[in-house]
Amino acid sequence: MELDNIEIKTASKDLISKHIEELLIIDRSCFDNESWTEDAFLSELPLKFEKSMLLMKNDSVIGYAIVSQKAEGAHLHRLAISKDFVLQRLGEYLLETIIKSIGRKSLTLKVNTFNTGAVIFYLKLGFLFVEKNGNYYKMKKDGA
Ligand SMILES: CC(C)(COP(=O)(O)OP(=O)(O)OC[C@H]1O[C@@H](n2cnc3c(N)ncnc32)[C@H](O)[C@@H]1OP(=O)(O)O)[C@@H](O)C(=O)NCCC(=O)NCCS
Repeated sequence: MELDNIEIKTASKDLISKHIEELLIIDRSCFDNESWTEDAFLSELPLKFEKSMLLMKNDSVIGYAIVSQKAEGAHLHRLAISKDFVLQRLGEYLLETIIKSIGRKSLTLKVNTFNTGAVIFYLKLGFLFVEKNGNYYKMKKDGA
């Protein structure tokens, strides 16, 4: 993994606002007709702007993990790495950083059943299937 000039920053509301165009471009390219609006990135959820993280290279966003607090732990609402940077272990680096920051609590997520690449990625990172609901799997990783 090439870590030159790459850093992870807490996704404060100010930082998300500052980089919103970059986030929207990555999101559209990753999620097509299910892409988020600016309002979705900036909507309030418990501890969202403390737990979410941006992956930056030379002060531009190249990936993000949007996380909020839930009763049983934390929930990953969105994870994306810019297409120019996939398969360089940066998704793993970002998600492992999120997992470490959550500590002993569990992390849940929902992934589209057709998104085979993401399902493989989450299984490699130790997530387990919880249930299937329509076109989505709920997956979970318990804290260490
Ligand atoms: C899913 C995603 C976050 C993975 O990020 P990434 O930086 O490309 O993944 P990494 O390079 O860290 O890969 C870690 C491991 O997962 C595997 N993996 C990642 N993407 C994969 C894919 N599409 N198909 C098969 N395996 C994959 C890697 O091969 C690697 O395995 P290894 O340890 O055996 O080498 C990224 O592809 C992405 O943003 N996709 C579009 C958005 C999306 O689907 N997000 C998830 C929605 S719930």
